[in-house]
Amino acid sequence: MQQIKVRAETEDDFRAIDVVNLSAFQCESEAQLVSELRKSDVFIPDLSLVAELNDRIVGHVMLSRAVLRTDRDAREILVLGPESVVPSQSHRGIGSELIQAAIARARPLCYKAIVVAGHPDYYMRFGFKAAKEWGVSCNLPIPADALTAMELEDGALAGGGVVEYPDLFRRMF
Ligand SMILES: CC(C)(COP(=O)(O)OP(=O)(O)OC[C@H]1O[C@@H](n2cnc3c(N)ncnc32)[C@H](O)[C@@H]1OP(=O)(O)O)[C@@H](O)C(=O)NCCC(=O)NCCS
Repeated sequence: MQQIKVRAETEDDFRAIDVVNLSAFQCESEAQLVSELRKSDVFIPDLSLVAELNDRIVGHVMLSRAVLRTDRDAREILVLGPESVVPSQSHRGIGSELIQAAIARARPLCYKAIVVAGHPDYYMRFGFKAAKEWGVSCNLPIPADALTAMELEDGALAGGGVVEYPDLFRRMF
C-alpha cells in the first residue's frame, strides 16, 4: 500500500475535508458539524487530523474537548469524532492510522481520556473499552454499548460519571 501521511489540518484543507465527510457520510450533517466545531471553544487544531494519500486528502478525524461530570468534580476529557474515510479508499487501514495518530498526539498534550460514541467493535481494536466498565455514560441518546473509552492517564475515568458532549454534537440527534 502507498504511504499514508497523517498530519494536522490547515485552513487550506477545509474544502477537501468537507468533501471527505460528504462522501463518507452521504449527507451534510457531519461536514457541518466539523465546520461548526472549528469555530467553537472545544476545538483543538492539533487534534483535527487529515490522512493524505498521494497529496490528496482521503480521511479526517477530530478530537474535541468535553467534560466528564462526576459526583465530585468536572474533568476535561476528549471526544473522538466524526471520523471519515472516502469510500473509494475504505478498508485499507486509513481509518485505523487516523485513530492511532489521534491517540498518539493526544497523550503528550496531557489529555486524560478519550470517549467515542460509535461502532464499539471497531474502536475496541485500538484499546478502547466499554465505557460502562468505568460507570461512564453520556448525554447523547445512544445505547450504552455504543460508548467506548480509553484512559490516557491511569485512573482518569475511575469512579465513572457522565460525559457532557458539546451541544453541537447533541443537535445531530
Ligand atoms: C468507519 C471508517 C472511518 C473506517 O475507515 P477505514 O479506513 O475503512 O477503516 P480501516 O480500514 O482502518 O478499518 C476497516 C474496518 O472498519 C470497520 N468498519 C468500517 N465501517 C464500519 C461500520 N459502518 N460499522 C462497523 N464497522 C465498520 C470494519 O471492521 C472494517 O474492517 P474490514 O476492513 O475488515 O471490513 C469509514 O468506513 C467511514 O468513513 N465510514 C463512514 C463514516 C462513519 O461511519 N464514521 C464513523 C463514525 S463517526
